[in-house]
Formats: sequence, structure tokens, C-alpha cells
Amino acid sequence: MPDPTTRDRPVILGNWKMHKTPAEAEALAGAVVAGTAGLAVDVGLAPAYPALLSVGAAVRGSRVRLVGQDAHFEPQGAFTGAVSARMLAACGCSLVLVGHSERRLHFGDTDAVVRRKLDAVLAAGMAPVLCVGETLVQREAGAADSVVREQLEAGLAALDAEDRERVLVAYEPVWAIGTGRTATAETAEAMHRVLRRAAAVIAGEATAARLSILYGGSVKGDNVAEILAGANVDGVLVGGASLESGSFLDICRNAA
Ligand code: 13P
Repeated sequence: MPDPTTRDRPVILGNWKMHKTPAEAEALAGAVVAGTAGLAVDVGLAPAYPALLSVGAAVRGSRVRLVGQDAHFEPQGAFTGAVSARMLAACGCSLVLVGHSERRLHFGDTDAVVRRKLDAVLAAGMAPVLCVGETLVQREAGAADSVVREQLEAGLAALDAEDRERVLVAYEPVWAIGTGRTATAETAEAMHRVLRRAAAVIAGEATAARLSILYGGSVKGDNVAEILAGANVDGVLVGGASLESGSFLDICRNAA
């Protein structure tokens, strides 16, 4: 199984959010498996919960990973509507998004909740993808760097050294998600540099040098190569353009 935390090859994650039935998701996953075989990229797909098993079956035996979109922090219990990290692992997930801006915005996930979810995902033996990013208001106020540094610190600081090695980070400026307004390659690289420097302060230079930092926000086939050219950009987290095999495979091919 490839390890997307090594920075060897670009990591391309498709976050399908609240789209695709199990059958639709299975068909899309099959097309992604076929279209990415042999490409020098590490691909992961994050379907909605009801499609985890059908997508898991479609990617079985391939290099494509199954990714959870979120996990509750408790291992089990009376939490109607929630899904635990252990359940995701049992479905075949090896990665889980934690702290996506849509979770923070629509579901009230605070940094403290994000921290507990990181623990839960790690305890279940999976790798969390810690999502950070500033809003437009925060960027215009000149607070972008400090906002993402604080989100990173809230996630990483209390983890032990071994667990920090298993975390991936995704920088997703909120103003670039689903808006068609991509951060320029320079803006993305600048923030990734900020994040890697902040990670070095928290976790040490060696761990920071190994940390995979993905960019997300209106990534498409025609901008992915430019974004990945940044020395500190190790992959991309794709929303809208991951919902069709044609646009997602364009991204994978142009990233490879
Ligand atoms: P878009 O690619 O649709 O902007 O979404 C990005 C995202 O939120 C991925 O998690």
C-alpha cells in the first residue's frame, strides 16, 4: 500500500462531499481506478458514508485509497447520525479528512473538536488529513497566516511524535472552495511555506520536512501542474472537479 505521507509522489484526493449514491459512486470509482493505474500519483477517494462499501469494493486491489470525509471523536455511543473512526477503518478507509471548513462552518467543529477527531482517527489506525484555511474576511484583515498557524498548532501541538508523523495537512482557503477562484500558485506556495515553518516549530525540522501539505480550492486540470510546482505543495484536495471521471483524471494525468 503506498504511503501518502512520504512526499514521493503527488497525493490527489477527491472529496465528493454530499454527492453520489452508492451506485453512482461505484461507477466513478471504477473509472478512476482504471484511469489512474500506472500513473505516478497517490489517489484517494472520499465518498459519502453510504457509498463507502461500494467504493471500497471498486478500489480493492488497486492503489486507490478509500478516504473518510469526517469521523466522530467518540468510539461509539448515543450520537444519532454520527459515524466513528473505527467504523470507517472497518469499511476500508486509511485516510480521514478532519476539520474541513464545511464541517467547521456548518456543523460547528471547533479546533477543540478537531483535536479530538484527530486523536480518534489516529487511534483507529488511519491517517488524518488536517484541513486548515482562512476566510476572505480573515485574509483581507491580514490574518491569514496567523489563522492557519493557530489551526495547525491546535491540531498538532498535543500529539505525540509518532502520531505527528502520520498526519497530512490540507490548506484550503475558504474563499477558494467551490468559487472558481483558485489561490494563485504563489499564494498557495507562500502559505504552504508558512505551514511547514510552523510545523517545524511544533514538531521539529525533520518531521516538518516529511509532512505532506496538500492544497485545495477550485483545483482543475488546467491549474494543477502550476499549483504542484510549488516546492512545498505535495498534492491537492479536489471537490467539484472530482465528481466527473473526465475532469478528475485530467487532474491526475497533469499532476503525474
Ligand atoms: P472545490 O474543488 O470544489 O473548490 O472544493 C475544494 C474542497 O473543499 C475539497 O475538500
